[in-house]
Amino acid sequence: MGLVTSTWTEPSNTATALLLLGRGTDPASERGVDCPGDLPAPSDPGLVERARAAKAALGTRVFVLGHHYQRDEVIQFADVTGDSFKLAKEAAARPDAEFIVFCGVHFMAESADILTSPAQRVVLPDLAAGCSMADMAVLGQVETAWEQFEDLGIADQIVPVTYMNSSADIKGFVGRNKGVVCTSSNAKRALDWAFEQGSKVFFLPDQHLGRNTAVLEMGLTLDDCVLYDPHKPNGGLTAEQLRDAKMILWRGHCSVHGRFTIESVREVRERVPGVNVLVHPECRHEVVRAADQVGSTEYIIKALEAAPAGSAWAVGTELNLVRRMALAHPDKQIMFLDRAVCYCSTMNRIDLPHLVWALEELVAGRVPNQITVDGDTAHHARVALDQMLALP
Ligand code: 13P
Ligand code: SF4
Repeated sequence: MGLVTSTWTEPSNTATALLLLGRGTDPASERGVDCPGDLPAPSDPGLVERARAAKAALGTRVFVLGHHYQRDEVIQFADVTGDSFKLAKEAAARPDAEFIVFCGVHFMAESADILTSPAQRVVLPDLAAGCSMADMAVLGQVETAWEQFEDLGIADQIVPVTYMNSSADIKGFVGRNKGVVCTSSNAKRALDWAFEQGSKVFFLPDQHLGRNTAVLEMGLTLDDCVLYDPHKPNGGLTAEQLRDAKMILWRGHCSVHGRFTIESVREVRERVPGVNVLVHPECRHEVVRAADQVGSTEYIIKALEAAPAGSAWAVGTELNLVRRMALAHPDKQIMFLDRAVCYCSTMNRIDLPHLVWALEELVAGRVPNQITVDGDTAHHARVALDQMLALP
């Protein structure tokens, strides 16, 4: 039989095309954006040395931030590691660094650009490091929902709250409408504040963080919460449902934390008697309810550090972090909550070749992949971010 040859072509950029991560452009998404760099080969044995040399050459001109979900090969070059709350504060606290290299995802780099001075430049080593949750709330959809609330005469009772994991556009919308940004570390404090300003909260874009905080920490019931689906007319809700609701939750979720199920919890409890189940509040409500503890990334790290030797922990968060904690604490049994393990694919876009390329470009006097937020959006987003940083 003759060999059939065919030429593979990139999918075209249509609304339905399945873009390969890092190839092509998708204006409606943070993902699938070309990284224009002349990247070193991943197999280059000199990468660690090159990253070290470039960082040393830049000295205090550069400050490297690393989110806890980053790969080990990248985290080793971070000047500070943290969750999104800590990294936002760290970016704001470095006025002398000319370049902030953000090893995290796009919305985090945008927040860093908003919180730093105009002279400072924020670099995301790979532009394809977006966040699928942030992509689930697009400004036009959110404005349509708000117009619906205005038509119903309820908008003036509603305080918008957006999770840090949202685009600068959404943070700008929230700032314009007298709301606040929150992270998984301060969601309760943000909701306490919001319910002092109004009688309803419009929570974007993570339904799970919103529901878990409202029901498990604020004493609201599941019936107080409604789910606004931007893909359905009027969000799929009646006027009465919207008038009665205390929490209007946007239908967004994290594809990584959304993987954990109640079966994962049951299975690990059977397999490992006495295990402590510790999950992130981006997990589904029933998973958080079935867990022993829930908390942000920083909370999870502290809980594992404080745990007694010999204790067993099944952790429901991103795999890089769980792996690192397991390696750092061999005296404790630390495992991933689900047997089918999964990284956050976009966080993992930042690898050593991208970091080396970004640092070497800076050494050469070029600023690669600079993340900038336009002035008007930045102004309003900053109002909502400052409100978060001022929470009691
Ligand atoms: P935190 O960093 O706020 O814990 O959020 C987790 C996350 O999913 C970041 O993308
Ligand atoms: Fe987004 Fe979830 Fe990945 Fe965080 S872990 S960047 S929320 S997809």
